[in-house]
Amino acid sequence: MVEISTSILSIKENAIQKFYDLEVARTDYFHIDVMDGKFVKNDTSVIMKEYTNTIKQISNIPIDVHLMVKDVRKYVDEYLAYMPDRITFHYEALESIEEVKNIIQYIKENNVKVGISIKPDTKVEEIYDFLPYVHMVLVMTVEPGKGGQKLIPETLEKVRILRQYVTNNNIELDIEADGGIKLENIREVVSSGVDIAVVGSGITNTKNYTQTIKKLKNG
Ligand code: DX5
Ligand code: ZN
Repeated sequence: MVEISTSILSIKENAIQKFYDLEVARTDYFHIDVMDGKFVKNDTSVIMKEYTNTIKQISNIPIDVHLMVKDVRKYVDEYLAYMPDRITFHYEALESIEEVKNIIQYIKENNVKVGISIKPDTKVEEIYDFLPYVHMVLVMTVEPGKGGQKLIPETLEKVRILRQYVTNNNIELDIEADGGIKLENIREVVSSGVDIAVVGSGITNTKNYTQTIKKLKNG
């Protein structure tokens, strides 16, 4: 059964009540979208820290941090403090293979699972060398930077290629997809080989989180 990581990016008012509702609805993860205004235009760095603080006080549900930032190390240090389940950075944010390997090592040394994310235009082949060292690949199904966008269908072909590659090479990792995932397309997302689906507005814009998450998990 697919796991659901609820993105809280689109939550604007009554945040605490909505976090409680997501806790009751048993989302598998809270997905924290950290944007620095440099790697992507939006800057959510302040609000996402506040939200993470609040979530940590009211829930033990694992935190799935998605860093859409240029200075990866700075934000990894910021979020290590919240003892998240996993921290995912963007491959495109770093300048060299060395830098990628160092940040992977650094996150793991701090006993946090590490994810590497690729934007829609980045080929999966570009990150093959890192796969044996990471716990998760986050395949962006929209251009990173905001919620409520439409899923880009071609990105699911990347998930299929990645699933085939890790199976052929006996590599154990989670494949997460993120952006534009809804009840209408979850079945196609899951059948492409996704383990964890990030859903933001497809959950937070609905009335009954428990019902929505149940339907999403049943694909
Ligand atoms: C986009 C974020 C996604 C987004 C998902 O940059 O990484 O997590 O918030 O929201 P929806 O599901 O509304 O596309
Ligand atoms: Zn995200």
